[in-house]
Amino acid sequence: MKKIIIGVLILTISLFANDEMLYTKGQMIFNEHGCFSCHGSNAEGSSDYPRLAGRSKKYLIQKLKGYREGTIHSKRAHIMHRYAKKLSDKDIEALAEFLSKKIYTNEQPDDQYYEEFFFGNTSF
Ligand code: HEC
Repeated sequence: MKKIIIGVLILTISLFANDEMLYTKGQMIFNEHGCFSCHGSNAEGSSDYPRLAGRSKKYLIQKLKGYREGTIHSKRAHIMHRYAKKLSDKDIEALAEFLSKKIYTNEQPDDQYYEEFFFGNTSF
């Protein structure tokens, strides 16, 4: 019984560590590829660019592969194509892990943009 408990514990810890590594790798790619310059340093988005923080992992993977392969034909897809074509499957997996786990709360900046847009620059 003890062995089983220890085994399960090790497995849980290693799975967790694996996710952590993927998250960190995703965060690095997000910064190194300049994703933040449009989507915000917290992936919070703005009035011009979609929020990525807290979106579903499956959705993010699907979209990034779609931009990479050129199968998404929205008006501004060409902007993303340029960035997505440099990403490998592993990069996309890591980015999606990072972005889906990134906590998005209403206190994060895109509300601020919203307020500034509608009510002028209020200081927080
Ligand atoms: C130059 C600005 C710019 C940069 C840099 C950029 N994006 Fe985007 N991104 C956009 C725009 C514009 C869209 C909306 C495209 C559309 O209408 O389909 C978008 C859409 C997306 C979407 C889909 C969001 C949704 O709501 O469907 C994902 C996921 C995404 N970007 C991830 C990334 C990642 C990851 C990087 C870095 C590798 C990145 N973007 C870099 C401008 C940018």
